[in-house]
Amino acid sequence: MIRRPSSPVLLVVGTVLTLLFIWRWAYIPSGLHVGASRQTRFSRVHTQDIYNRTLGFEKIFVVSLPSRTDRRDGMSLVAALSDIDFEFIDGVDGASIPDKALPEYSAIGRLDNPSIGAWRGHLNAIQEIVRRNLSSALILEDNADWDVRLRDQLHNFALSSHALTQPLADAISSIYADFTYPRNPETTLTSTPDLAFENLPVTILPQSSPYGDEWDVLWLGHCGMHFPFTSGQTIPKGRVVQTDKTVPQQQHLWTVSDTNDLKYQYPNHTRVTHHAQDGICSLGYAINRRSARQLLYEAGLKRVTAAFDIMLRWFCEGTGTPNRGYHNCLTTQPSLFQIHLPEGPKKHNSDISDHGEGHQEKKTEVIRWSVKMNAEVLINEGTDFVDQYPDVD
Ligand SMILES: *[C@@H]1O[C@H](CO)[C@@H](O)[C@H](O)[C@H]1NC(C)=O
Ligand SMILES: *[C@@H]1O[C@H](CO)[C@@H](O)[C@H](O)[C@H]1NC(C)=O
Ligand SMILES: *[C@@H]1O[C@H](CO)[C@@H](O)[C@H](O)[C@H]1NC(C)=O
Repeated sequence: MIRRPSSPVLLVVGTVLTLLFIWRWAYIPSGLHVGASRQTRFSRVHTQDIYNRTLGFEKIFVVSLPSRTDRRDGMSLVAALSDIDFEFIDGVDGASIPDKALPEYSAIGRLDNPSIGAWRGHLNAIQEIVRRNLSSALILEDNADWDVRLRDQLHNFALSSHALTQPLADAISSIYADFTYPRNPETTLTSTPDLAFENLPVTILPQSSPYGDEWDVLWLGHCGMHFPFTSGQTIPKGRVVQTDKTVPQQQHLWTVSDTNDLKYQYPNHTRVTHHAQDGICSLGYAINRRSARQLLYEAGLKRVTAAFDIMLRWFCEGTGTPNRGYHNCLTTQPSLFQIHLPEGPKKHNSDISDHGEGHQEKKTEVIRWSVKMNAEVLINEGTDFVDQYPDVD
């Protein structure tokens, strides 16, 4: 004969199941990247916000000299074609900045005027974020270009950023998936903690930004970046490794002169998201309310001893003279924003540095479906995009 469970047993089992159900309902959704309707209950921001007109930031600013009308026309067009809202921040001619406007001025230390001008343009944007008390903003230079698929790339970047810096939903033995985050253990690593994008850990959904709660800088537009040096003790070593068809084959990738970068360590079509090391170019970066104040202090009120991008690097790494403190800076290789080079004399490429003599055809390095290179296709509402870097066998 089969004994039926008595009703008190059923009651206990029922209660336990109900409690389990409530617990899972209340807890698990906050850690999963599930449908937006479930997220609303638990988070003020949604990863889906990355698909909005400001790419999941509160504002987008483009630093641009008023005299570079060519670049303002170009940026206005590509932003419109990408359904992006932005505001110009006036860049400044360095010669117009008097010595007394330079903090802790020293006669031997004044940088060249183009660098002073670029510094001031970025500081004007940062000051604007602080004055308007914005929760976050993306700052771009006016010659930046990007892929038609930028929002998908940013969405993937955000998921990678969550995996590297958001607490695990199921934090049993460690709080973060990257055991070198937020601080490196005092050991030399023999291998880096690589996380596969296709199999990311489940993390707590962010509350303050679709990109995560703990970042200070998202260095999305650079012209060279290293993986964190294995010998370094400060910068976390975690990497999210993703197969990404928007990445050109490696013969087209630019490299920062040694083997500690994307080109030498992974197969073709790999994207890696990681903490910033040795970044150059401040073509595109996002900051938030907290880090804008820190950056205004560290790069605006301390002595200007290097070009702005180098000060941003120091701000990320906690290095430089004077030291600008360590900050949590995430980046991805290859860069999501790249410099567009228009057709014409090479020397017109920059108001800061020398790009040599001669004539060039227009192009954007490393971006396959560049918005600028596909402007005509997009204006005509086409979808047959020009791939600047088609695969070869
Ligand atoms: C886009 O999303 C961000 C983050 O949630 C938000 O701050 C911003 O206001 C949104 N932008 C627009 C245009 O709705
Ligand atoms: C800035 O925004 C934060 C968050 O909304 C708020 O708490 C703070 O009071 C604001 N500060 C100013 C000066 O508006
Ligand atoms: C990438 O593809 C190119 C072209 O087919 C090939 O020559 C190269 O060896 C590949 N690189 C790697 C790392 O697989």
